[in-house]
This record gives sequence, C-alpha cells and structure tokens, in this order.
Amino acid sequence: MYTHPKAALIGQQQRFPAIEKISSSHGTTALQLKTIYCTISESCECDFKPDVQGLEWDLYKNLYGQHLAQEIVSEAVVGFLQKDSPDKPLVLSFHGASGTGKTFVSSMLGRYLYGAAMSSPYIHQFIPTLHFPLLDRVQEYQRALKRWVEGNLTACARSIFIFDEMERMPPGVIDVLIPFLGPSHVVFQTNYRKAIYIFISTAGQEVINKLALETRQAGKEREDIQLGDLEASLAQVVFHNKNSGFFQSRIISEKLLTSLVPFLPLSRRHVDRCARRELCQRGACQRRDLVEAVENSLTYTLDNGQFSNTGCKLIPAKVNLFL
Ligand SMILES: Nc1ncnc2c1ncn2[C@@H]1O[C@H](COP(=O)(O)OP(=O)(O)OP(=O)(O)O)[C@@H](O)[C@H]1O
Ligand SMILES: [Mg+2]
Repeated sequence: MYTHPKAALIGQQQRFPAIEKISSSHGTTALQLKTIYCTISESCECDFKPDVQGLEWDLYKNLYGQHLAQEIVSEAVVGFLQKDSPDKPLVLSFHGASGTGKTFVSSMLGRYLYGAAMSSPYIHQFIPTLHFPLLDRVQEYQRALKRWVEGNLTACARSIFIFDEMERMPPGVIDVLIPFLGPSHVVFQTNYRKAIYIFISTAGQEVINKLALETRQAGKEREDIQLGDLEASLAQVVFHNKNSGFFQSRIISEKLLTSLVPFLPLSRRHVDRCARRELCQRGACQRRDLVEAVENSLTYTLDNGQFSNTGCKLIPAKVNLFL
C-alpha cells in the first residue's frame, strides 16, 4: 500500500488535520483548536506575514535579466493580496531553462509571504522524483495529493503549494487539483481561494529561448519582450508536451492558471553579475580575475554562444573551484 511520504511525515509532526484527529476523544491540541477555528473563521491567516514591498525590492535587485518574471510575479501577488476574499487562488506556472531563477523566485515568495524561508509548515514543496516517482501510480498519487491539499487548506487557507520539476510529474497527477484551482471552491467553510500554487518546469524553454534569440538578432532589447508575445505558444507547447506535467490538462485548456511566467535564458552579463555576487558573499569582491575565470568556465549556446547553458546554476560550484 502506497503511503505518501509527506503524509507519514505530517503524522509525526501532527500538522495534518485529519478528521479523525479533530473528532477524537483524546486531548485537543492547540493546533487542533486552531484548525477548528480556521475552519469556521474567515480571518484565520496562520503565520501569513506578507511583505510585498520586500518581495518587489528583492525581485528588482537580485533577480537578473528576468523583467517578465519580476513584473508578473509582483503584479500577481499584489493583486491577489489586495483582496481579503480573493475570487480564485493565485496559480503561477514558471517556465524556462535551467539555472534562470525559477526555484530562486519560489523561495523568495516563501520568504516574503511567510517570513520563514521554506521552513514554514504552511509551505509545501513537492518534487516528483521524490513524491511521485512511478508512472503507474497516478490514481494513488492523486488520492494522496487531494487529501494532502484539502487537509492543509483546512488548517491554513493561506497555504502555499510548490510543485518543482513538473516535467517529471507523471501525466494526469496534477489534474486532481482542478477543483481547487477554480473560482467556486468553498467547502465546509474552508476558503480554498486563498491558497497559492506555484508550478515550476523547464517545459516550454525552447519557445522562450527562440524568442529571446530572435529578439537579440533583431537588435532589440530583451526588455522589449512582452508576455503577450509568448503566452499562447507557451501554453500550447506545455499542453501538448508529454513531459510538462500539464499534458492535455484542463488546467491549461480551462485557463486555471493566473499566469504563465516565462524565464528568459541568461546571457554573459547576467552570469557576470551572479559570479560577482557570489564572490562578494564570500568576501572576495575584488577578484575581477575570478569573475572572468568563472564566466569562461561555463558553456554557452545560441547566438554565437551568448546564452549560458546552465544559467547561474553552476556559479557557486565554479567559485569553489577557483577560490
Ligand atoms: N535570474 C537570476 N538572477 C540572479 N540569480 C540567479 C538567477 N537565476 C539563477 N540564479 C542563481 O542561480 C541559482 C540556481 O537557480 P535556480 O535554482 O533558481 O534555477 P532553476 O531555474 O530553478 O533551474 P532548474 O530548472 O535547473 O531547477 C539560484 O539560487 C541563484 O543564486
Ligand atoms: Mg529549479
């Protein structure tokens, strides 16, 4: 019998508000009382402490070369948090090549919405290779995921669910979330519309990279690229790609995503900034020679080798090597 690894964990930590626990005759814990309170109260916000200005500033200052992600994430979060009672959850799907900042931005969201990096009990991260590794277990995974999401939203309506590496998610699993992502899901007074879902994958990177390349070859600035230039083709590629996690998914066809978020390929100047930041963080701000060595040790493709194959992902490892 398959046991969801997180369900086992949660059992130990008593975070999962299983119905039998709430109604059991044993002593009621503070968490259970809180869970009951959250179920009947619209105002229960767990430890949700959004610092939207901090998020916007960090995105602006520390996320390089991603004007679309900066704008879309900031606007979506501001718009969502302005409403006490949102009409649907915030559902973002990050797409782009490796090392361009997708997981980095998801961590920023956790940090600025919960003030607690990713360690908050209300931030749930899923990695398919760990939590959903087998292609023939789709129904079991769906049941476990539905239970998990329902239970945790009952405990905290402001929960954040992050699904990284969606390209490795067995097709179909994620469709179990469809009822939670739409506008009308309020059950037993739990407001399912306050939740935040972040999906992350490299699926669609070819469409994004191609446009970045064409823009560059046309002598235009990458900042000229608008979401509208990419949105439809990206959605189509993701929908038709068996390895996107959204293969033929109604999440795409019924437009349940608040927004797709394209991450552009990083060029040498962005890698340069990543290398400098890394060196400064290690007290070696002055080592210009090392910035160059790190930059030259990476591989570049597209447009005469302008875009880094691995974005900024290998920078810490390369700095280790040279420092
Ligand atoms: N656009 C960026 N601006 C600044 N730093 C970046 C950017 N992209 C990546 N980095 C740095 O590189 C590290 C690795 O990036 P990240 O883990 O976000 O890549 P990813 O897009 O999730 O890639 P993958 O698809 O391989 O998981 C980050 O922790 C961050 O330090
Ligand atoms: Mg990642």
